[in-house]
Amino acid sequence: MPAGEGWWRTAVIYQVYVRSFADGNGDGIGDLAGVRSRLPYLKSLGVDALWFTPWYESPLADGGYDVQDYRRIDPRFGTLEEAEQLIAEALEHGIRTIVDIVPNHISDRHEWFQQALAAQPGSPERERFWFHPGRGEGGEEMPTNWVSSFQGETWTRTRNPDGTPGEWYLHLFTPQQPDLNWNHPDVRREHEDVLRFWFDRGVAGVRIDSAALPVKDPALPDLPVGTAPASGHPHIDRDELHDIYRDWRAVAEEYDGERVLVGEVWLDDAERFARYLRPGEMHTAFNFGFMTQPWSAQAMRDSITRTLAEHAPVGAPATWVLSNHDVTRPVTRYGQADSSFAFERKRFGTPTNAVRGARRARAASLLVAALPGSLYIYQGDELGLSEVELPLEAIEDPMHFRSGGVDPGRDGCRVPLPWAGAATPYGFGGTPWLPQPADWAALTVEAQDADPASTLNLYRAAIALRTQIADFAGGELEWLELGADVLAFRRGDGTVSITNLGAVPVPLPAHHEVLLSSAPLDGMLPPDSTAWLALRPVRDRAPRVAD
Ligand code: NOJ
Ligand code: CA
Repeated sequence: MPAGEGWWRTAVIYQVYVRSFADGNGDGIGDLAGVRSRLPYLKSLGVDALWFTPWYESPLADGGYDVQDYRRIDPRFGTLEEAEQLIAEALEHGIRTIVDIVPNHISDRHEWFQQALAAQPGSPERERFWFHPGRGEGGEEMPTNWVSSFQGETWTRTRNPDGTPGEWYLHLFTPQQPDLNWNHPDVRREHEDVLRFWFDRGVAGVRIDSAALPVKDPALPDLPVGTAPASGHPHIDRDELHDIYRDWRAVAEEYDGERVLVGEVWLDDAERFARYLRPGEMHTAFNFGFMTQPWSAQAMRDSITRTLAEHAPVGAPATWVLSNHDVTRPVTRYGQADSSFAFERKRFGTPTNAVRGARRARAASLLVAALPGSLYIYQGDELGLSEVELPLEAIEDPMHFRSGGVDPGRDGCRVPLPWAGAATPYGFGGTPWLPQPADWAALTVEAQDADPASTLNLYRAAIALRTQIADFAGGELEWLELGADVLAFRRGDGTVSITNLGAVPVPLPAHHEVLLSSAPLDGMLPPDSTAWLALRPVRDRAPRVAD
């Protein structure tokens, strides 16, 4: 593993949604062979690590977040041997690997759940989950009134071997994702074994799915209707979670090379969020607060200030995330009248100014790359892809179906990447499992490679500068007051990032050199653009120690 103490504090981490990255065998489904063949591309982008969304054996009821077997790769993606080769080859390119662990639930096809279904109520096999009799005389009512993160019910009733209705089981997501009982020692032991299984294979870290959800109040209390629970939520952010992650941190510490825990923690309460990042717990957690902000200097600045302030007391670096496989692509989001993000507001046919969105997404990518902390890039954002409005019959995402068809779901950001050529499959491989738009020819890697002004080359230049310029390595940021619509800050003593979120061009502050800009400058900074400025000749500064 490349040396580099605290590598995760400033790392650029690229999220690979395997199914849609590159298809090595022509069946239309991205796979590990496809990723391996594109490692030179990832190297040329300059990223430090790859985070792979779940690549394990899975019925793909929720895109792989329904794990059937953590120790096998889904045959559609490849084999365990290929995963091992991929981890090793990436390291040869200086790129670390992060895998996804999903502690809250497993697939209903996992052997534990199959055993539980076959066993009797009250059996040890059922204790690994949340099986419970229903309420009411015949047990026909759900045990709690909890609402799913995917909308709708959180309990499904089983059938007894004789066909009569049986117990219910809990699932905060789809019925194909039964929740595990984290009070059970098997569940704890198994996950620690899974961590070791992957750390033994050289992965540099784990991304922890739905990290604030796994522990439940065993009394299974109802949620009060319309208000927050008076004392502690029965299934979100329970204090017992911290013991679990402290144990996981201890497992990570058994290994050399700084293996990291990255939490997917969606919590509004900043103090509660930061608790996951205390010494001895997770290394970092996704900062979704910034991602959900509208295109507004005030809102974004407030969010950045809040983020840095909430991380400081626990000594953890912030993370910067513009998108992922769950949310609307930035090019689309920033082109809409309401450019903030909220799951519940996603609708088909929302009017979008694609040109403005693309400009703003480029500006935002430079803005976040200049902030202190680690940076996440979701595959395809470096190509400036937009959210795709898919034909209804192509959509697979359960979020769409559970909304009664009102929410388009998340497949629009999961469309297979365009690599080359003028028409679908744009060099992806076989016929893509989700259809690609007809107008992606100019967005392929091949087309953008050749264009110095392309979004791909902007990302490459930004990542290279971020790595080379010592000012970007520290944890400090100083705001510059350059107008209400301008977001400007200095990093170290010599580098400035300035973003114009207003409607008219603004002057640049005094500088020695423009290092990079998201749009042509012409002496002024045009609306919806970012520039990086060097206040002194760059060569005067110490080069950052290479990992
Ligand atoms: C968060 C993941 O990012 C999302 O894709 C998934 O559906 C849920 N967790 C449930 O695992
Ligand atoms: Ca394939």
